[in-house]
Amino acid sequence: MKKALITGSRGQDGSYLSRFLLGKGYKVYGADRGGDTGIWRLRELGIEGKVKEISLDLLEPTNIMDALEKIRPDEIYNFAAQSIVKLSFDQPVLTGEINALGVTRLLEAIRKVCPRARFFQASTAELFGSTGSAQRNETTAFHPKSPYAVAKLYAHWITVNYRQAYGLYAVCAILFNHESPLRGEEFVTRKIAAAAARISRGLQQKVVVGNLDACRDWGYAGEYVEGMWRMLQKPKADDYILATGKTHTVREFIEAAFAAAGIKLAWRGKGLGEKGVASASGKTVVEVSKDFYRPAEVERLQGNSSKAVNKLGWKPKTKFKKLVALMVEAEFSRLDKKKVNL
Ligand code: GDD
Repeated sequence: MKKALITGSRGQDGSYLSRFLLGKGYKVYGADRGGDTGIWRLRELGIEGKVKEISLDLLEPTNIMDALEKIRPDEIYNFAAQSIVKLSFDQPVLTGEINALGVTRLLEAIRKVCPRARFFQASTAELFGSTGSAQRNETTAFHPKSPYAVAKLYAHWITVNYRQAYGLYAVCAILFNHESPLRGEEFVTRKIAAAAARISRGLQQKVVVGNLDACRDWGYAGEYVEGMWRMLQKPKADDYILATGKTHTVREFIEAAFAAAGIKLAWRGKGLGEKGVASASGKTVVEVSKDFYRPAEVERLQGNSSKAVNKLGWKPKTKFKKLVALMVEAEFSRLDKKKVNL
């Protein structure tokens, strides 16, 4: 039986990957910081209690060494991170400690304790920043635009460096945005999906967002974790982009989510004064606020995952509208369950 250690196992990706690996017969160890509240994700996926939980903080080298010595994992997937881009502008040092040096602590411990283990690092499309409208591939230059992305750039290169310098089997997936009902509400897709369902049920008046024109390559997280696993099964370690190849604006996501919730929207005004109005009731249900803008924005992301398609046989299946609809449906179902429970 193979053993996998997943850091950040109660996050969106950690939860989906845990379910996937359990299905493949792995023994899964989930490492999270004490007090992490994401257990609801494991519950929703029906795997609560099936992942062996351990407490681990990437700020603490001793924790990491102890965990590796105890488990001796075959595969290690690192999702532990301060993953909110906007927050990284307020907490740049902590973000660097976790997202950059945290990965070095992990790699050093692997090198010393279990150098034959295979290591997966969650790199990000944010590494690219805004570099024109072309699709990004594995050879596109990086221009990070936030403390989050700069820290992830360090993590990316230190992973490549440990592969080259010490021969570790260490890979990075450059992950474009991947969403699901298990996203946190800090991220725009879940925030919108939840709001659309609640507004449609009369439980919320409106949703306030930031930049409506930002474009993201949004895929379905449930499918991305298989690509991650496939990366660790290849004879030779290498880095791959996982993306859909399509990009959509936040405005389009809002339109699709409200449509899935039965609300047709009309847009009025411009810039910070732009509003989304429900065509049937005439009520304003979407507003824009500076509070959700970032000091520096990545305007457009679109990835080219041909290498993953050709070499890993991985291909995303869920299209944009279906993804939005499944997120909104999940919100309705959560609202229904709460009603039943009351
Ligand atoms: N969060 C948020 N909230 N974003 C908003 C809002 C809002 O109210 N309004 C507009 N946006 C815009 C952001 O400015 C950004 O351009 C886009 O929506 C997506 O924001 P997020 O959902 O917060 O995700 P992200 O693209 O910054 O980062 C996610 O994807 C990266 C990979 O590309 C995160 O999952 C990162 O951890 C990940 O690396």
